[in-house]
Amino acid sequence: MNKDQIFEQRRKDLQELEDNAAQKQHLKGKLTARERINVLFDEGTFFEFDAFVSPSQTPASSRKNNFGDGVVVGSGKVQGRSVFAYAQDFTVLGGSLGFAHGTKIAKVQEMALKLGAPIVGLMDSGGARIQEGVKSLSAYATIFRNNVQSSGIIPQISAILGPAAGGAVYSPALTDFIFMTNQTSYMFVTGPDVVKEVLNEEVDMEGLGGGNIHASKSGVAHFVSDDEEHTIMLIRKLLSYIPSNNYEALPLSNQTSFYKSRQEYLNKIIPDDSNRPYDMKEIINIVVDKDTFFEVHERWAQNIVVGFARLNGKSIGIVANQPKVMAGTLDINASIKGARFVRFCDAFNIPLLILEDVPGFLPGIEQEHNGIIRNGAKLLYAFCEATVPKITVITRKAYGGAYIVMSSKNTGGDFNFAWPTAEIAVMGPAGAIKIVNKHELSKAENKAELEKELTEKYKNDVANPYKAEEFGLIDEVIVPSRTREILITAFEILSNKQYHKPARKHGSIPL
Ligand code: HXC
Repeated sequence: MNKDQIFEQRRKDLQELEDNAAQKQHLKGKLTARERINVLFDEGTFFEFDAFVSPSQTPASSRKNNFGDGVVVGSGKVQGRSVFAYAQDFTVLGGSLGFAHGTKIAKVQEMALKLGAPIVGLMDSGGARIQEGVKSLSAYATIFRNNVQSSGIIPQISAILGPAAGGAVYSPALTDFIFMTNQTSYMFVTGPDVVKEVLNEEVDMEGLGGGNIHASKSGVAHFVSDDEEHTIMLIRKLLSYIPSNNYEALPLSNQTSFYKSRQEYLNKIIPDDSNRPYDMKEIINIVVDKDTFFEVHERWAQNIVVGFARLNGKSIGIVANQPKVMAGTLDINASIKGARFVRFCDAFNIPLLILEDVPGFLPGIEQEHNGIIRNGAKLLYAFCEATVPKITVITRKAYGGAYIVMSSKNTGGDFNFAWPTAEIAVMGPAGAIKIVNKHELSKAENKAELEKELTEKYKNDVANPYKAEEFGLIDEVIVPSRTREILITAFEILSNKQYHKPARKHGSIPL
């Protein structure tokens, strides 16, 4: 064959591989690597390279069956912005990560970092290629190191669209967001067979590490959906809120409509009985631009709500206590979830809005023994460390340590607002009167009556927002229906916030 014929033949071989991949993947209800890439990128913008890289140990005669070595890499546009991606092809050697495969991924990671563009990994792989032994492991190590070196500089997103087993799970785990699909993807360090052998526990793949489990129990997955196309569309949506790198300005939207007629409802959304729940997400959706709230970790640690939204067209990150779930208390998982989100937003200069209604940290033996102290400290650390504009609105309870943690003034909150319904104090009335009025209560003839009276008095005299306003710890008590308007102004004032931290290698967050 002359050179022209070789050129033509290679393209034919590649097409044959793709047709073969389509046949196999479609049978399993899955897309091929290139089809996934096409869903991710704006039409016709993907530029693939290294398509003919071959496995290092394959004889020349069978190379054409393995062109690309099981991974498609390249760059394209998502909503007009540059993004790099790699997509593993399970139909070539089980998408297993051989040295050439790993080198391709490392190359695209390094390009993304150099060019300040997000990177998306679409994973579907049997893990380290067994035949290539330690070379395969070394390629993994390079990928992990690149993940860490890119952290906080470019957004890194992983979608698990098939198996991710063993050490292979750690590249996604090092990235900022993990997406999974129900029934067709799973992640675990050791599979069901090993679990059975070592622990005699019976579990299937879905039950051990499927999308549902990781989205609701382990918190490993930030997003889960029922089909691949939807999963990949969600990645596009996520990218629309975040900058391409830690120096780039936030993407702006010219859609700034909001639920104007619902603003007044905020004046009566807080129930008269302060122990009754309400849905914090309702407040979020009324305050931010219409239908822009994009929740992260929706099904895990639901006592705290985190996610992106737009306010007057600008991206913000929201961290909010959820009174509807466990009364909005902070437990271990909520602290970890909140801390992780705050640190992502801070790394990428996304301003933070904190909506607060928190009665305190969750008490109990289980929480204490599992380290609520160590884990609660993560959220405290994250808020204290964050230098992006931070605005807190206290809607109701803000008690004790939890008040401090949720971006209170002296942790570095730039603006701290409260609704008139706010209850800011060292502890709630029930606990406080038992300590402060112990003697009176022990002597009281009608204890219940006195308790009611003292509670009312405590609420009026102590647990209100006005004391904090007098001390300048609340910048202003605001009318709830004006929240959106005030937040827009306040974020505008803070838009030029500059903060230079003293030099240090890095802090020592209590991990
Ligand atoms: C080489 C592999 C492979 C691997 C799959 N294949 N995994 N080849 N190395 N790791 C090949 C198979 O031989 C087969 O080739 C083809 O891919 C499809 O695999 P099947 O087994 O037929 O597919 P399926 O029944 O869907 O099962 C998928 C699977 C299973 C569950 C992923 O293949 C499997 O258990 N693979 C091994 C998973 C694993 O233990 N990996 C190592 C994890 S440890 P043919 O030629 O028949 O089509 C790890 C360490 C990373 O990754 C460390 C990083 C620090």
